[in-house]
Amino acid sequence: MTLKGATALVTGATGFLGGEIARRLAAEGARVRALARRPGRDAYIRDLPNVEIVMGDINDTERMKEVAAGCDYIVHCAAALGGPLPHQRRLNVDGTRSVMQAAAAARVRRALHISTIAVYGYGYTSDVTEEMPQKPGRVPYNVTKSEAEKVVRQIGAQNNLSYSIIRPGMVYGPRSGMWTMFMFNLGKRNPTIFLGDGSGYAHPIYIDDVVDMAALLLTHPAADGEAFNCAPDPAPTWREFLSGYSRLAGHQNWRGLPALPLRIIAPAVELALTLRGEPQDVPALIPFMQARKTYKMDKARRLLGWEARVSLEDGIRRCEPWLREKGLLP
Ligand SMILES: NC(=O)c1ccc[n+]([C@@H]2O[C@H](COP(=O)([O-])OP(=O)(O)OC[C@H]3O[C@@H](n4cnc5c(N)ncnc54)[C@H](OP(=O)(O)O)[C@@H]3O)[C@@H](O)[C@H]2O)c1
Repeated sequence: MTLKGATALVTGATGFLGGEIARRLAAEGARVRALARRPGRDAYIRDLPNVEIVMGDINDTERMKEVAAGCDYIVHCAAALGGPLPHQRRLNVDGTRSVMQAAAAARVRRALHISTIAVYGYGYTSDVTEEMPQKPGRVPYNVTKSEAEKVVRQIGAQNNLSYSIIRPGMVYGPRSGMWTMFMFNLGKRNPTIFLGDGSGYAHPIYIDDVVDMAALLLTHPAADGEAFNCAPDPAPTWREFLSGYSRLAGHQNWRGLPALPLRIIAPAVELALTLRGEPQDVPALIPFMQARKTYKMDKARRLLGWEARVSLEDGIRRCEPWLREKGLLP
């Protein structure tokens, strides 16, 4: 099935991933309704052929029904990636409910929900497949994104609505604040200071690979009612990931911090973050980052014939012009 001529609503279109998905669908010939909740945030997608900016808040169910009416597809990217639990629950769970209800009312051909590998939580120490139980722990993002998946499945089943779920890893590329800008600044520091020898596995996936899979999941028959990891398999180490950025900055020097003192101060760091309104399970993060586990991609290979196409080396190189534009590289 092709996206050409179809109408697709993209929530979170003013954000990193949603903006790229909106652009890709439009480039493939879909008429894209790009949801924006605040004026002036749409520079990246405004004025593109096939893209219409529609204003709305995902928590406004009636407005979501209006903007979804007549759509063939919905891609739900909008989310809160941080903040206290009630805030994240309102956006990630109630917001997803509202979007899915709109998808059901519009009788779309498929709703694609953007989830995350965070739904598995920090506890697994060996490879993770889609069938494994979600153990999101107590981190609001992990908890609410896991709850959001339940909402998607429930509304999908109740309304005979076709849906698919993608669980990306650490999405990096130009315009990524966390996994490119922040990580580049970490890697740029000479020496790069990080946990231990950096031999735990990281899960960076280049933005174009995520967008490729998202576009495929919208129309692939085997994606109906299924969830797919979208992460590098085999996974690189944290050192390989960060060294990619330090290489851009012109060095390869590393200083490993021992885990034990970090574990000792972890509860205090957690308290400080909680007081700042950004609760995080810091004690669990340390072993999580040391674990050598891969989010397995066998299911996507088997059912969709999907394979990531951008190597880590190539992906990091593709970030260079954007980092230069941002004044982070000479
Ligand atoms: N980035 C990653 O590495 C990563 C990894 C795995 C999964 N994901 C998932 O991918 C999705 C997109 O993430 P991202 O990195 O692109 O995040 P982002 O850049 O922060 O974008 C979030 C988007 O959601 C919108 N939004 C938030 N609350 C809204 C509301 N109430 N109504 C309408 N729109 C609202 C934001 O609008 P404003 O522009 O107005 O703020 C923004 O467009 C999320 O579901 C996230 O969980 C991301």
